Amino acid sequence: MLSQSVQDALNNQINLEFASAYAYLAMSGYFESANLTGFASWMRIQYEEELTHALRLFDHMHDRGGTVRLDAIAEPKAKFKSALEAFEAALAHEQKVTASIHNLYALAAKENDYATQTMLQWFINEQVEEERSVGQVVDWLKMAGDSPVALLMLDQKLGQRGSEAEDEGEAEAEA
Ligand code: FEO
Repeated sequence: MLSQSVQDALNNQINLEFASAYAYLAMSGYFESANLTGFASWMRIQYEEELTHALRLFDHMHDRGGTVRLDAIAEPKAKFKSALEAFEAALAHEQKVTASIHNLYALAAKENDYATQTMLQWFINEQVEEERSVGQVVDWLKMAGDSPVALLMLDQKLGQRGSEAEDEGEAEAEA
């Protein structure tokens, strides 16, 4: 059984994951408008992944007899000065999500909620990956500087990102 404080924190995290999805969809739209379709595709896949994060928490709440509360989501930022500004915003956002997951884990530990701690292990690992991949793009964009050629090469590279489901399918096919 979930304590009320863990339920409240899980509901806040569900909201943050949906807000992440919304933020990345807005960034995808920004890149579509700029005709940087590789960046747009990367952000759209990120959007889809965030929805799966929210649903993981949604399912855990119901598995444990909790009550989901879907709060309002604020309008996300949709205009950026550059691709770098958008990805720096994404990195700051992921760092905020990581801190929130860690606080949630600490609360679950304090409340002796072992099942929630186990469920959150996946998120702790996922945040390492998320910060690494977004931080990598930030570094590449800094290296690209003002070069349109470098930006277009990065756009091509990011357009090659597959969805998590596709990646897992490929891994299974290779196994
Ligand atoms: Fe679900 Fe990118 O944090």
